[in-house]
This record gives sequence, C-alpha cells and structure tokens, in this order.
Amino acid sequence: MSQMNTEGRTRLNQMPEWTALGKHREQMGDTHLRELFAADPGRGTGYTLTVGDLYLDYSKHLVTDETLRLLRELAAAADVAGLRDAMFRGEKINTTEDRAVLHTALRAPRDTVVEVDGENVVPGVHAVLDKMAAFADRVRSGEWTGHTGKRIKNVVNIGIGGSDLGPAMAYEALRSFTDRGLTVRFVSNVDGADLHEAVRDLDPAETLFVIASKTFTTIETITNATSARDWLLTGLRAGQEAVAKHFVALSTNADKVADFGIDTANMFEFWDWVGGRYSFDSAIGLSLMIAIGPDRFRELLDGFHLVDEHFRTAPAEANAPLLLGLLGVWYGQFFDAQSHAVLPYSHYLSKFTAYLQQLDMESNGKSVDRDGNPVDWQTGPVVWGTPGTNGQHAYYQLIHQGTKVIPADFIGFAEPVADLQPGLVAQHDLLMANFFAQTQALAFGKTPEEVRAEGVAEELVPHKTFRGNHPTTTILARELTPSVLGQLIALYEHKVFVQGAIWNIDSFDQWGVELGKVLAKRVEPALTEGAEVPGLDGSSKALVAKYRALRGR
Ligand code: F6P
Repeated sequence: MSQMNTEGRTRLNQMPEWTALGKHREQMGDTHLRELFAADPGRGTGYTLTVGDLYLDYSKHLVTDETLRLLRELAAAADVAGLRDAMFRGEKINTTEDRAVLHTALRAPRDTVVEVDGENVVPGVHAVLDKMAAFADRVRSGEWTGHTGKRIKNVVNIGIGGSDLGPAMAYEALRSFTDRGLTVRFVSNVDGADLHEAVRDLDPAETLFVIASKTFTTIETITNATSARDWLLTGLRAGQEAVAKHFVALSTNADKVADFGIDTANMFEFWDWVGGRYSFDSAIGLSLMIAIGPDRFRELLDGFHLVDEHFRTAPAEANAPLLLGLLGVWYGQFFDAQSHAVLPYSHYLSKFTAYLQQLDMESNGKSVDRDGNPVDWQTGPVVWGTPGTNGQHAYYQLIHQGTKVIPADFIGFAEPVADLQPGLVAQHDLLMANFFAQTQALAFGKTPEEVRAEGVAEELVPHKTFRGNHPTTTILARELTPSVLGQLIALYEHKVFVQGAIWNIDSFDQWGVELGKVLAKRVEPALTEGAEVPGLDGSSKALVAKYRALRGR
C-alpha cells in the first residue's frame, strides 16, 4: 500500500546519531543555564532566529553548539528533509490511510502546481476560497438574508475536533479584526447544553448554521446539526424549504451533505488530503472568514505560507520548525520530559493551547512506527497551558519548584491589540514584565546564597531556593495580526511534522479515537432501552445500571 515504507531505515535507537546524543546528555550532567550564559556573553542574541514576524529566542535551552550539531545530524540521519519534500510534493506520506498530506497547498499562491494522482490541486483550492469569499461578503453586507428576508446577524459553527478548534481558536485570537455586529458562536459538544447555550438568545430568522465536518458522519456534529435544524424550523414555523437559507456545509462528502438536506450549492468543499486537525485554513475556516472578512483571511493564509516556505527552504541551522521539533525530541528522550507547556501572554490566545493539543497529541500520540513495530523511544508529549498571567497564580509553582522537567513556550507581543482603551493599553507593559520575568526566573532560579543574602532564616532557605535550569523558548512578535497567527500555527504544524519524522511514526492518522466511537455506539442502546451489550465488562455494566437507576429507568 505504502509508497513511503521505512524498510531500510535504521531504527531510531540504533542510529549512531541517537547514541551520540545519549552520550552527550551524560556528559552535560547538571550543567546549569547560569554556566552556559556565563561562558558565552553573546548567547542571548546568538541563540535566536527570525522567521517572518516571529522572533525566537532559544538561548534558555539546555543546549550547546555541540547539542545542536548532534540534533541536526539526527535530523539528517532520519531524513526529515526527504519526508518534508515528499509532503510538499503531494506524495502519500499518510501511509496507513494511503493519503497525501497537503495542508500546505491550502495556502499556496494561485500559480503553484501541486499534483495528487497527476492532478494539480491548487486551482481547486482557489476556486473554493473564491466561493467562500463571495459568500462571506454576501453575509457581511446583508445581501444574504434568511428565509423570512431578515439580515443574518448570528453565525453558529457546528463541528468538533479539527472542524471546531481551529476556527474557534482563531475567532478568539482575531476578535479585534472581526465585524462586531455579528455574533459568532461555536458548538462542538454532544452535550445538549452546548447548543442550548449557543442559541437560546438568538432569533432563528437571523441565524446561519455552518455545519463543519470533513466526513459528515461524525455523530456529535450530525446530532447537533439535526437539533439545530429542529430549533430553526420550529422557531420559524417553517418547513424544510427554510433550510437552504440557514444552513451551509463544509465537507468532503457531498452525498452525506445532500442526505442531510443541505443544498450542495451551499457546500464548501475540501479534500481527503487535508487532515482534520490541519484543516482550518480550508473551507473549515468559513465562519472565521465571515467574521474577519476575506481580505484578513487571505492575510492569515499568507502568514501560513511564509512559514511553509521557510520550513521548505531554510538551512537546518536557521530552520525554526526543525529547531523546535528537535528540542522537543531532546527533552522527551534525554530529560524524560513528559509534557510541554504552551503559555501565551495574550488573552486573545486563550484557545491556542487547546488547538495545539489536537494538532500535537492527535498527530504524535502514537506507539508504533510507520511499519507497525512498537517504538522503543518517547513520542509526543502532553501539551498543556493557559494564557499568562493566570497560570502564574495557579500551576507555575510546580514548574518552578516541582520535580518535573517541563519545557515551555512563552508567546508574547510588543503591542496590545489596536482597539483597547488607552487605560488598558497601559496595562500591557505589566503583562509583558511578567512574561520576561518568568522565563528569567525559570532559567536562572535563585541560589541558596542569594536567598541567605536577603537575610532569610536558615530553615526557610531550602524553601525559598529556586533550582532554575527550566528550559523555555520565547516567541515574540510585534502584534497579533491574522498573518502572525498563520505564522505561529504553521510553525507548530511543522514542528509536529519534524518530530513525527524523527520518531518514524505516521503523524497524520488517528486510529486511536476510533475505539471509543465504536464502543459509544454499542453502549447507547443499553442506556436508552436497557439492551444487553454483549461482552460489556463488569464495571461498565454496573455503571450503566447505576445511570439508568439515577434516571429513573
Ligand atoms: O477526533 C477524530 C476526528 O476524526 C478528528 O481528527 C477530526 O478533526 C474530528 O474527528 C472531526 O471529524 P469531522 O470533521 O469528519 O466531523
């Protein structure tokens, strides 16, 4: 099946480059960032990269020139560049699903040629983008009206996973660029409370539902979409003919869209070579495009493309996604880091880490290699985090003084968003003072001598000592614009790619989510009708019985 089997590739942990990194780690021992900075006064400016609008400081990492050289040698041995080029060329590198992986084609300029099975996919991408733009403009201008002729004032996106997290995250991130006259909401949870809260104060005559589902079979989305259709038709006292003006679909599956009753003229297409978690710059971004307008959406795509080109062409020493990916491999394997924190110092990025959780953990949460053999090395980390400074007053204590190694990315901006009131603009320096202070404290800590010098009682010295040496990346940009958001996301997409390539896993399938879906379908009749579920274990059987009793069934 696969064009990209890895027969002939040395297993990762048998590569001399891997062994060399292990030895190097032993030699490094407890080398402290204080020593590394003392030995190299230029480290704070030397260990930096600029990519588009992003300034990356990786000086506060537990690495030397030698570490970086060995990591790059590992990337070369694992042929990260070869797999990267195969991805950009449209080869079927998602081997277990026999699919190309071409989210990069979604933001490629019109004149680019990218072929899948002999067909250039770029014209199709732009045709859909143009159709989205025309539709978004009609909604934004009021030309597109609902069934009763009222202007659309509310847009409700119904989708889950990659059909929700991207547009929901980007809508929050780019709020200051949105049309504030539109109410845009996102419904994902099959818990009826989600849809209830999203529509309870809306007028159905003014509401457009955007049903986002690559497969159009995802039970949560189809269930919510059906309930939304009932809500609409009941509220409008109308029949099926009202659906056309209030429902559009974003999908790869025209048959299922038509089965649901949505006119396929109101369907915005994408393709099986776009993974769900890599899809929000496809038709899946329609709700966002309606909110921010087609021009801003194009700026977002240009931001993605800028980093795609950087990843494709920059030399290894200056390649930011490669560097970030390698640093993650370094800590996961050689420092036993189990998790990775992403800490944006922007309230607008409140959903950014949740978005990255799917991107990273659904991609690299794997334990067999491309050929199906169990891996003997660490793969993807647990990704977590919330916007600063809230985290500082919650879980940062554990990062500072706990026993775990938690590499962290700090993301901040020099300018607050444009439409803040002047008084609130002034708060930005305080936010950023925290941003810079935290990475400083994490890296350098506070020695017992420094604590004693402050006159602290001897018995409190161990408690007030900070070991430091906690690795962080700082990513700084001038402002959170659509382009900068695109750049940030592409940076993480390609970082995840690099890690999957080194670990020799398929970062583009997600078989692990299937089992739960199948079991849910089997268990549902037991809840509703008390049906016998063959093979149900003792614990689950008792829990189902308890649930039924609590519901009075
Ligand atoms: O969680 C599994 C998954 O397949 C994701 O990869 C995907 O983003 C999500 O479900 C939603 O799928 P769909 O867009 O087909 O409804």
